[in-house]
Order: sequence, then structure tokens, then C-alpha cells
Amino acid sequence: MDLDDKHEFARDGELPAKAQTLWHGRFTGGPSESLLAYTVSLPYDQRMWRDDIAGSKAHVRGLARVGLLSDDERNDVLDALDAVGVEMETATFAFAPSDEDIHTAIERRVTELAGPAGGKLHTARSRNDQVATDLRLWCKRELRDVAARLVEMQQALLEQAIEAGDAYLPGYTHLQRAQPVLLAHHLLAHGWALGRDVSRLLDTIDRLDVSPLGAGALAGSSLPIDPVGNAADLGFAKAFENSLDAVSDRDFVAEAVFDLAMVGLHLSRIGEEWVLWTSAEFGFARLDDGYATGSSMLPQKKNPDIAELARGKSGRLIGNLTGLLTTLKGLPMAYNRDLQEDKEPLFDSVEQVTLAVAALTGMIATATFDTDRMEEAADEETMAATDLAEYLVRNGMPFRDAHAVVGAHVQECLAGKGSLAELVAADPLLGADGAALVRPGVGVKMRSSRGAAGPDARGEQVDAYRAMLVDEAEAIQLVTTTT
Ligand code: ARG
Repeated sequence: MDLDDKHEFARDGELPAKAQTLWHGRFTGGPSESLLAYTVSLPYDQRMWRDDIAGSKAHVRGLARVGLLSDDERNDVLDALDAVGVEMETATFAFAPSDEDIHTAIERRVTELAGPAGGKLHTARSRNDQVATDLRLWCKRELRDVAARLVEMQQALLEQAIEAGDAYLPGYTHLQRAQPVLLAHHLLAHGWALGRDVSRLLDTIDRLDVSPLGAGALAGSSLPIDPVGNAADLGFAKAFENSLDAVSDRDFVAEAVFDLAMVGLHLSRIGEEWVLWTSAEFGFARLDDGYATGSSMLPQKKNPDIAELARGKSGRLIGNLTGLLTTLKGLPMAYNRDLQEDKEPLFDSVEQVTLAVAALTGMIATATFDTDRMEEAADEETMAATDLAEYLVRNGMPFRDAHAVVGAHVQECLAGKGSLAELVAADPLLGADGAALVRPGVGVKMRSSRGAAGPDARGEQVDAYRAMLVDEAEAIQLVTTTT
């Protein structure tokens, strides 16, 4: 934006009525255009309109309960708030140039619609407790929805895991082939990580489920307001205990943005893996056409752009977190306008994670695996080395010695002295039993301990995973939202 184009600042007495602020009483001059342009948050905080209306309705009912509004006044303001809701819903709400944020916009319109009673809406309330209330309501709903989408992604991973049957692939450490693992086991590894994300989001919701309404600008009120009643009205688990903390606490936003950055990291790891898996070099997975892109120049290309963006956008999610933490650091009690900067990182992180989860879920659910390629890679003879060492251990040899015996055979094999199976068969310590361990498809079956990568351990894991999905769905259902 070119600020030179905005040189016509408003001056004393020149402020058009439509640009009158909520705080004009103390001021003789109007706000400059550059101030409005710089401080406005309406473009992004509009998305809290439902929450703002819900918060205002609870506040108005509270004022009426304690006698600060008559029943008629309460009804007039509630009707006006409902009318604003309809205007918002139908996108017919006319924003005015003085509307700094969604809170001022709605209050202005309520005052226009409700007549004199509208002027009582902001009794014993500040935008400081109002914005904190709105944002907590917004977070409860949106974080719950992100959690629900993650459960869908976990479900898609489970379905592909079931579909994968006994297929196996190399498991890697240091991205070097290590031991064979079931494809199902590998897919569910990501599902368990997402399960922690769901649980973190639900924990965050639990902690943020506190109503700040009634904290006022910073110190509460001299009027007989009812914060506890308002909290119950809004479906919050409890009301604040300390007004200064209530208006200045943004721990919940930082936690939410962390949770989302962590989801982003998990999605990024999945993204990186699928970039590798869909390459000709790996050739482990094929994307459905609906979840792949082409090249504008190279006709043969089929690109995994969803996976790449899941990897790339994690940088942005981490940036949102570090930016927000830096904003919060060192703020004096209580509200400071800096706190307005909590919203864009939060909204962006929720939006980006929501888009990413939907796209990746579709990509995974529709992909097909080249299990022959996977198994061929996993059947490399040396993948059996640990099983050979463990065979010797079962026969009483200390593991360190067994490691050396097998390591020597691998070295001979790599030096071209024969296949590992031949070398093992010729070793009296290993013999035919050892050679059998090197055969294709045997290795994965050896991984039988609890939580291990083979078919014997799979059933218990799948049962536990299914139970996790049921628990998550129940916990998500229990999140009460008024908006
Ligand atoms: N849009 C502002 C925010 O998001 C509203 C609060 C303004 N409060 C104030 N005391 N100036 O934080």
C-alpha cells in the first residue's frame, strides 16, 4: 500500500460522522487515516462475529439479571444483536470506515438498530474482556474442528493400514535400510503422532475454557455484574479469578499455535516421506490424479505438490509460533494493543492446518502402493543381519559377540565372497537355520515383541488404535460450543 496516496488525514472537526469512534468523547480531533489504517483489525477479526454476538448476548442477559437493563431494554438489544447476526450471515452488514474491529462494528450497528438501549450494551464491559471472550469461544470451536479433521486423517491411515495386509517395506534409520516393517505399522506410526496432536488440542481447549467476561478493561467493575452466570451462559467451564490475568493472558493462543505447529511438523514428515515414496527412485506409492499436479513444461511429470506444501508450510506454522511468543514476551500488565497481534498467526495456523489435513487425508486415502517394489527393497539379504545376531543370542552367545560374527559375514558378502545366505549356511554356528532367516519375507515376521513391526504384534496395536479413535471422538463430542 502506498501511504502517499493516503495523505488526506482527518483534522479537528473534519471527522465525518460515519468515522466517529467509540472513544471520541475525550478527543477533540478525529483519528488520522494512517492511525486507522495501521491499527485496524477488522479485515481479519471479522471471522469472530458469531463469537462476538454470542458474547454480547450473554453480557446483555447478565446485565438484565442484575437489574442494569430492564427486560424491555434487554429484549431490544438482543433483537438488534440477532438482526446483526442475520446481516452478517447474509453478508448484508454494511461496515463503516470507523469500524476498527468486529467489536466496534457490531456495537455501532446494535446502537443504530436498538435505539437508546443499544447505548447500554457496553456497560461494565471493555473490548479487553470482550476480545478475550470472543477469542476463547472461537478457539474452542475451531480447535475442536481441527481435532475432528485429524481423527478423519487417522481413520484414513487405519483404512490404508488394514488394506495393506501383510505387505512390508524397509524400515529406515538415517534413511539407510535397517529392518523390514509392515506397511501397516509404518502408516500407523504417523497415526499415533496425530493422536498426540488431538490430545494436545483437547488439553488446550480444556485449559482455555475460562470466561474472561466481566474483567472489564483490567480491574472488574463497580457495578454488580455476574461473571459466573455469564460464564455458564456461554458454556465456559468456569469464570476468571483475576481480572488482570483474564484480559492479558494469551497463553491459550500460544498453546494453540504450538499445537498447530506440532501438527504441521507431523504433516511435514508425512509430506517428506511421500515426496520420496512417489519418486521413481523409491517407487513405493502412486498418487491418484486428483491429488497430484502436472508440469507446465514437462509433459510426463506427475508431482506430489500436496506433500511438498505440507513440508513447506510447516515453516510458516513455526514462524507463527515464534512471532507470537516474541510479541507476548515482556508485555506489562494488563492489556496492551500488542495483543491484537495474536489473531493473525492463530487464524493463519488454523486455516493452513485445516487445508493441509484435508488435502493430505485425500491424498493418502486415494493413493496406491507398489508393494512389490517395497518388498523387493526390504528383501535385501543384509536386512536379516540383526535376526542372525539374535539367533546366536538365543543359542547363548553374548549379543556383542554375535554382532561381530554377523558383521564379518556381511563384510565377506559385500566383498563378493558369496551371498549372505551361502556364507551363513556355511557357518556351523548359523547353518541352515540361519540361512532360513535370510529368505525373502521372513524378516518382518520376526518382529514379534509388543508394539513391534511384524504381523504378530499388529492385532494388539490395531485394537489400541481403534480404541484411541473412539476415545477421541467421544472427547470431541464433549467439547461444548455456543457458537
Ligand atoms: N481489536 C483489539 C484487539 O484485538 C480490540 C481491543 C482494543 N482495546 C483497547 N483497549 N484499545 O485487541
